[in-house]
Amino acid sequence: MMADLNGKTALIFGVASDTSIAWAIAKEMAEAGARIILAYQFRYHSRIKDLAPTLPNILSYDRCDVTKEDEMKAFFSKLSVPIDIVVHSIAFAPAATFQGNLLDVTPEDFSASLVASSYSLSKIMQYAAPRMTRGGSVLTLTYLGGQKVCANYRVMGVAKAALEAYVRELAFELGPKNIRVNAISAGPIKTLAAGGIKDFDYILDYHKSVAPLRENISTSDVASCAAFLASDKARRITGQILFVDAGYSIVGVPQLG
Ligand SMILES: NC(=O)c1ccc[n+]([C@@H]2O[C@H](COP(=O)([O-])OP(=O)(O)OC[C@H]3O[C@@H](n4cnc5c(N)ncnc54)[C@H](O)[C@@H]3O)[C@@H](O)[C@H]2O)c1
Repeated sequence: MMADLNGKTALIFGVASDTSIAWAIAKEMAEAGARIILAYQFRYHSRIKDLAPTLPNILSYDRCDVTKEDEMKAFFSKLSVPIDIVVHSIAFAPAATFQGNLLDVTPEDFSASLVASSYSLSKIMQYAAPRMTRGGSVLTLTYLGGQKVCANYRVMGVAKAALEAYVRELAFELGPKNIRVNAISAGPIKTLAAGGIKDFDYILDYHKSVAPLRENISTSDVASCAAFLASDKARRITGQILFVDAGYSIVGVPQLG
């Protein structure tokens, strides 16, 4: 049965195209009855202006780069409705951090990666928490690379570890306001962001052969879990990293042959 999000308003960051995890989440939440507000990077405007109106319950969509204070201020000043759900589906690291060694990462590239991919969750909540007057649910997207070494992930592994720590710290800080904060750790999915990771097709094949369910993950697998976490059915779940990865992360030694 689909989660019931009737009467709730969801603010969703991270739609860049119809392959984005955030897009599947927006569709699932809209179908579950939530009103949707999309916040996106302006470089994707031409796609979003076609995609957003196809959502059944779209309230508004507007540019909002989470690393630009002026855009954050302008975006939130236009929001007049209370928010119940926040989805942070954002990651960025400069291309150089995926190409070289971790030892070569500059302080500038490290900062850019962690500000956009980890600190941005806290930055969004600085603006969003005062608008969550009825309490609510916050969700971010992480990857196994935040807990184990995943080849070629490099500084994003550090950023995801920081993001997962933010999930716990924010859950602790916002819990008394009845705001829950959780993460879904998704298995690999071919999206725009995944395009920056070397040998991604190999990672997909390997994941499928090792995962107990012998399947890869779709954005809609993630979206149905996201809608559950946003719903009142998950009302006592906070500070958690929930794996939607066909069980890949539990395997120590895979079945050979
Ligand atoms: N695709 C995967 O295999 C996978 C697996 C686990 C976790 N994730 C995570 O899921 C999230 C969404 O990624 P995706 O795979 O859907 O790719 P995607 O490229 O569709 O989404 C990434 C989004 O981040 C946004 N973004 C980056 N910098 C931003 C900024 N400064 N301000 C506002 N938005 C910004 C982009 O606009 C884009 O919409 C990311 O956190 C990613 O790490 C992805």
